[in-house]
Amino acid sequence: MNRTAAAQPHEFIDTTTPVASVTNLSIRFPTLDGTAELRAVDDVSFDIRHGETFGIIGESGSGKSTIGRVLAGLLAPSDGTVQFDGTDRATLSRRKWRSFRRAFQMIFQDPSAALNPRMTILDSLLEPMRFMGGMDSAEMRSRALDALERVGLRRDLALRYPHELSGGQKQRVNIARILPLSPKLVVCDEVVAALDVSIRGEILNLFVELQRDLGLAYAFIAHDIAIVAQISDRIAVTYLGKFMELGLTDDVIDRPLHPYTIALMSAEPQPLPAHLRNRTRLRLEGDIPSPLDPPGGCRFHTRCPWATEICRTEAPEWRELRPDHYTACHHTTPDGLPPLPDRTGEKGAA
Ligand SMILES: Nc1ncnc2c1ncn2[C@@H]1O[C@H](COP(=O)(O)OP(=O)(O)OP(=O)(O)O)[C@@H](O)[C@H]1O
Ligand SMILES: [Mg+2]
Repeated sequence: MNRTAAAQPHEFIDTTTPVASVTNLSIRFPTLDGTAELRAVDDVSFDIRHGETFGIIGESGSGKSTIGRVLAGLLAPSDGTVQFDGTDRATLSRRKWRSFRRAFQMIFQDPSAALNPRMTILDSLLEPMRFMGGMDSAEMRSRALDALERVGLRRDLALRYPHELSGGQKQRVNIARILPLSPKLVVCDEVVAALDVSIRGEILNLFVELQRDLGLAYAFIAHDIAIVAQISDRIAVTYLGKFMELGLTDDVIDRPLHPYTIALMSAEPQPLPAHLRNRTRLRLEGDIPSPLDPPGGCRFHTRCPWATEICRTEAPEWRELRPDHYTACHHTTPDGLPPLPDRTGEKGAA
């Protein structure tokens, strides 16, 4: 897919009122025996603008889906606040919240997961509208069939069952399910990862078209940096529940500020498009530490070839080093990281 067509920052991005505003968000899960807490997300702050695609990348277990569930209103913060289109969830009654949160939706990796195998596609399409209430059955049916067409499926598919559809068709149905709810923000969690490579581009194009036509914002979560880079206006890089870097996509990919971002890009199996490729290579060694006991200081220091004493003892500050480009690293500069004269050979960096 062509990034130029897909993901130029859209002229309708509204930077004045964020569609979601996350401040000092932490999510903790108690362990099964209740003796400890796992910090899945730790003191993260960011805004998502109306109409933008906000990409989230990071290794498995870094907290991407947990952040996504918060943005879709499925999980309440342990600490910190989340404002949905300017309104703090904590200030709304249960009833008000129910009607409010329809504008914040989530689509998952497994296209079958949200579809009941015993229900027709039409019933699956009607389900979220029934849950939200406020529409009569004729209106719901007509909206469901319109939505099917909008995602490129024929209306007669409405009478089929999920097992009669391909993975790509099922993922289109999952998108159609949320359209009648007039979403403002859709969290897309690995939405093309389970699909055949040949149809990933089609589904990504559908997301881009819907964004252009309906002004949706996306939080687009994926392991595959090339896919996130194609579709996102900005990218956040997560590691062990924290953001390491956040900035405009081209800026992050072309001039990464954080060692972890460089390492992730170096590990990318599918090469990035030439104009997004960065020449620095860094092999990511060792396993991701346990979020039950994350390293002190900078979380990445146990795997970072730039790490020095300060990285082990002091958490780096989150700073805006270039316009709209943030990172937390003791050693980086607005021009990127300094060379690694002593340890270049050891880690295969530079
Ligand atoms: N409901 C839960 N209860 C306990 N721990 C959880 C729960 N949900 C997530 N976790 C833990 O929180 C951490 C972050 O998980 P999360 O699913 O957000 O990661 P992720 O970045 O989406 O990973 P992946 O790329 O594998 O999907 C992990 O250590 C995970 O085991
Ligand atoms: Mg996940």
